[in-house]
Amino acid sequence: MKGKILVTGGAGYIGSHTTVELQNAGYEVVVLDNLSNSNADVIDGIERITGIRPAFVKMDLQDKDALRNLFETHPGIRGIINFAASKAVGESVQKPLLYYRNNLVTLLNLLDLMPQYGVEALVFSSSCTVYGQPDILPVDETAPVKPALSPYGNTKQICEEIIRDTIHAGAPFQSILLRYFNPVGAHPTAEIGELPLGVPQNLLPYITQTAIGIREQLSVFGDDYDTPDGSCIRDYINVVDLAKAHVIAVDRMLEGKTKENVEMFNLGTGTGVSVLELIRTFEKATGVKVNYKIVGRREGDIAKVWANPARANNELGWVARESLEDTLASAWKWQLRLREKGIM
Ligand code: NAD
Ligand code: UFG
Repeated sequence: MKGKILVTGGAGYIGSHTTVELQNAGYEVVVLDNLSNSNADVIDGIERITGIRPAFVKMDLQDKDALRNLFETHPGIRGIINFAASKAVGESVQKPLLYYRNNLVTLLNLLDLMPQYGVEALVFSSSCTVYGQPDILPVDETAPVKPALSPYGNTKQICEEIIRDTIHAGAPFQSILLRYFNPVGAHPTAEIGELPLGVPQNLLPYITQTAIGIREQLSVFGDDYDTPDGSCIRDYINVVDLAKAHVIAVDRMLEGKTKENVEMFNLGTGTGVSVLELIRTFEKATGVKVNYKIVGRREGDIAKVWANPARANNELGWVARESLEDTLASAWKWQLRLREKGIM
């Protein structure tokens, strides 16, 4: 065993895929989740893939006493990956206090207790949303952080600052901030994947739910942007590739390979894909048609953003490997599995 890692939000979409990769790499994982946006069955899926059942603690990370108790009952945690957060951009505009409280208090509790329990490393889930609409594309880590367009985006910026300030003040641990672009797809086994509650807000779950007939029609938000086909451009990154970057980040800190006590990396493919291109690629990869119509722009959308992942490629030795076709096919396989199981 390489060491014990606490994965907060480990029953969620990215956290569950990361738990699989950590276990595959020889880490012992403790999953913490309050199941506010996930289901305990995910732990079974992780066990079916890896043959190992991670320890699971159902608790709210806002509860500092419960966190202290977790550290006491699971001694020797060397690193933490902090996925636990509320993440719906639109909801954050309606319920800002819920977002500020959940996303900030959870991080503060971790930072408070890490030194006491000798935790050496923290990986934090940040987002390309911190760049807003970048002036230069592809965007690299030296680009300025722009004023956030939503309370959710603001929590990511503030959390990054809190971590920097805490370590600058001499806290005895290191941190890697990972700025994700658009995570998509599911594990190739279709044992775990994304399970959006209610009507999906994100593009790919909306596509797969339309393709299977749960939704009648996909709305494409705008075809009058300054892009080649007029629809918005994003950098869609396979969730398993993304998960693997977390293992590398943990290794890097625990093996003393960091160059600074706080490092940040863009995690994307380096290729921008438009909404209309994504639909066409999905149809090609799966042979299934997507019923869609063009509607007006969605408020607050950025026209185009994709990553310059050179720093992650060179420093971490991490590269996004999965093709977009295979990634979209994995999302479709997962949607079919949900139907098979009668979940949706
Ligand atoms: P998710 O909702 O699937 O996973 C988050 C998990 O955290 C859920 O299982 C939820 O139940 C849990 N959780 C939330 N608040 C908690 C609390 N107070 N205590 C304990 N558990 C709690 O989301 P995800 O897509 O896997 O995202 C993981 C992280 O990555 C989040 O921090 C998110 O902001 C960030 N991120 C996601 C995306 C994306 O597009 N999915 C993009 C950039 C960054
Ligand atoms: N889109 C549609 N129709 C839909 C849903 C989305 O046309 O039904 C379009 C959007 O307008 C956008 C693109 O598809 O152009 C991608 O939209 P998503 O909502 O899937 O993703 P975003 O890039 O808007 O935001 C996502 C997460 C944020 C995160 C950000 C960067 O939702 O939490 O990626 O990581 F901050």
